Amino acid sequence: MAGCGSWIFFLTVCAVTLFGASAELKFTIPVGKLFTYELMRETFQNDFEPLSRLYAGRLYDDPMVFKCNRQSFPDLPEWLRFTQRHPYDNGFLYGTPTSPGKSIIEVYAVNKRSYETARHIIVISIIAEKMLPYQAEFFIKLREIEKVLPSSVQVEIKQDLQNLWKTENLEIVNITNALDRGGRVPLPLAGHYEGVFVKVGSEDYFSNCLLRVLTPEHQKQCRAGAKVKVPGGCNFCSIPSNCITWCKTELFDLTKQEPATPAPTMGSGILETGGDFDPPESPPSRDFLPDYIVTVIVPLILAIILCLLLAYVMFGRREGVVKRNAKTNQIQLYHHHTIHENTDELRNMAGSRGVSPPLSTLPMFNSRTGERAPSLQSDNIPLIMAQHDPYSDTLPRK
Ligand SMILES: *[C@@H]1O[C@H](CO)[C@@H](O)[C@H](O)[C@H]1NC(C)=O
Repeated sequence: MAGCGSWIFFLTVCAVTLFGASAELKFTIPVGKLFTYELMRETFQNDFEPLSRLYAGRLYDDPMVFKCNRQSFPDLPEWLRFTQRHPYDNGFLYGTPTSPGKSIIEVYAVNKRSYETARHIIVISIIAEKMLPYQAEFFIKLREIEKVLPSSVQVEIKQDLQNLWKTENLEIVNITNALDRGGRVPLPLAGHYEGVFVKVGSEDYFSNCLLRVLTPEHQKQCRAGAKVKVPGGCNFCSIPSNCITWCKTELFDLTKQEPATPAPTMGSGILETGGDFDPPESPPSRDFLPDYIVTVIVPLILAIILCLLLAYVMFGRREGVVKRNAKTNQIQLYHHHTIHENTDELRNMAGSRGVSPPLSTLPMFNSRTGERAPSLQSDNIPLIMAQHDPYSDTLPRK
């Protein structure tokens, strides 16, 4: 018996190594209904070190992360989303296909302990089906997407909504994380959740309870921001965390929607024959002369006048220095030059210490003896020339 057992083990191991690497799952789902697939860590755990489990009896519970994409594409198809909260949680693929087709999804699991990887293939065939004509969307405030996706929870939520709709004939159409719809990330405190939108659809018309959403008084209450309770007799939530937020309920009657505008028909790309090309008539001619005069001629004339004026002021009315000097009184001119020279002298003296005393402080002559002081640098020009000096009377005398 023991030999038989080990043979079975051996065959299992062979099967796992042969088929496990390309494990392929097939699903056939209809358009317009929610598809959920839970990526079980347990399943992938069997792919990592299958032998150690069989022979050593060691069981691992490794953290894992998943990477999902459409085969030979970098991303998932548009309608399919993936979520996994934590490496120790299972992952979920979920979404609602909108058009028929076939998607091949590759799932890579990375073992965060050993960094081994395993690959699974999921083949999803989508078949066409009529959309459910009556749909309603509910907001469940006290839930998170991963907590809603397990099928048991989906069933609970569906049951409540079946009671609310008063029909058994009800399907979940879409489940969305409120964060994907502009919701806020909640505070990391107990009692704060991200929130989930659940859309369901049915062949049956809305129940009276649901139709209350359309009444003006409901809309008024909700707009006022009050905490509106589910009206009496319509509250069917059996588990508190599955209760809906009444004000965020929305009904969609797809039978009333106008059909989408048909796509434009494509022509052959060649113009039909016949008819000559008739060029469009040229627009009436416009007279641009007044505009031209105002924008070009007038500023030009002004500029020329200003130029002439400036030229006259600069050249026509200017006195030459020579002419001005000739007109000036000699003594005044001399006085003027000495002021300039003294200023220069003072400037030079300010530059360094120890320069010879300024010329103007040197006595020109000793008034008592009449002796001339030895001139050092001075070229002996008297400060005031006596022969022309009309102010000599005012000079101090000793
Ligand atoms: C499901 O919800 C998502 C997110 O709001 C949206 O992008 C998608 O179009 C919805 N699918 C259907 C079939 O309503």
